[in-house]
Amino acid sequence: MYLPGLAQYTLYHMVSLTNKRIVVGVTGSIAAYKSAETVRRLRDAGAEVRVAMTRAATEFITPLTMQALSGHPVHLNLLDAQTESAMGHIELARWADAVLVAPASADFIARIAHGLADDLLSTLCLAARSPLAVAPAMNWQMWDNPATQSNVARLRERGARIFGPGSGSQACGETGPGRMLDPQDLVALLAGMFETGELAGLNVLVTAGPTWESIDPVRVITNRSSGKMGYAVAAAAMEAGARVVLVSGPTALAAPEQVECIRVMTAQEMFDAVMARVDTAQVFIGTAAVADYRPAQAATTKIKKTSATLQLDLVRNPDILASVAARTPAPFTVGFAAETVDVERNAAAKLRAKRVDLIAANLVGQAGSGFEADENRLVLIDASGTTELPLLSKLRAARELIHHIAVRYHAKNPAENPRLAHRQ
Ligand code: CTP
Repeated sequence: MYLPGLAQYTLYHMVSLTNKRIVVGVTGSIAAYKSAETVRRLRDAGAEVRVAMTRAATEFITPLTMQALSGHPVHLNLLDAQTESAMGHIELARWADAVLVAPASADFIARIAHGLADDLLSTLCLAARSPLAVAPAMNWQMWDNPATQSNVARLRERGARIFGPGSGSQACGETGPGRMLDPQDLVALLAGMFETGELAGLNVLVTAGPTWESIDPVRVITNRSSGKMGYAVAAAAMEAGARVVLVSGPTALAAPEQVECIRVMTAQEMFDAVMARVDTAQVFIGTAAVADYRPAQAATTKIKKTSATLQLDLVRNPDILASVAARTPAPFTVGFAAETVDVERNAAAKLRAKRVDLIAANLVGQAGSGFEADENRLVLIDASGTTELPLLSKLRAARELIHHIAVRYHAKNPAENPRLAHRQ
């Protein structure tokens, strides 16, 4: 589908906010009424939103409105036992993938430019390691004042993004720069901050989830894969600008928007779906926990418990990853290795045996990492060495993995994007 102009731009950017955690900071400005719409649009774009408000902001819009729209209690002050015990401000700062202060008053900009931490929102801005975006809203003369301009320049120097302000008629009746940008523009700009463009123009094929191998009409052989890692990899590849096809075994997850999702049940179906698409893929990432074996013959009717023991004859399933890597030409091929012991040694052996470009290994069978968990600790192994990632949310781990893949893909195919080949 071709969407001309801004519609396409907006849609494209909206997509990449899927699963993003955004803290919206609201400060005292008449434009605070637009914050309600900003929160709605961020959520429509797939983001998870928490709101922090200054005391002045609550004079313009009620915390209850923002709570209803964000779906979470609003963070108001440092000494509020209830919100602080649910998620303290430091925890909130860590939780955020980005902080968007919209509207940002002249006073608030001045305070964070000077590193003040005299209320919850300014403390959060100081504590956050994630990107900060600020959408100024004020009278045009306040915006033009050298004091404000130098505060804004100071924030920019430190890496903050300044969204706007727009120009036009102001609440005070005057005309000039200082209007907060409209919510849909803020959402598009925010989404743009997450895009790396590292895989722009490439087709990425991802497998995810478990497979189900039928024993009889009601029973299957499967495993504990939730699909979370594979879906995160698909979302991260989207963010990096790729066109993504996700071949997924049975999971309870919704596919990231704009990712083409092909649902399959068995390893053979997954193999067929992959083979039908692999010729147009430049990158293949096999995160699926494919069942290595399937019953030689699935019973056509439900097996009854007539004997004390039951034997099933199993036959090998095709190895999707190895089959993709064996093609000529093969895409840049990435495998996952779920190991319970000797992670690096086993993964390195898999790298060689399956002749893949990169293996992402993880330790499974431990609480808090691997199957079903929301976090993962990956070790990335390729011919040039080993990179250990810390324990990260699966989306963050996926982003690191995608960056790693992009660097190596472009090093291997320098003609396609000489600019990115030099990135390390
Ligand atoms: N894989 C695949 N097709 C299979 C089995 C595995 O594509 N039939 C892929 C997985 O998606 C993963 C990688 O191979 O990317 C490693 O899978 P894993 O189960 O860890 O290892 P195996 O190769 O199956 O070896 P083993 O079970 O002996 O550890």
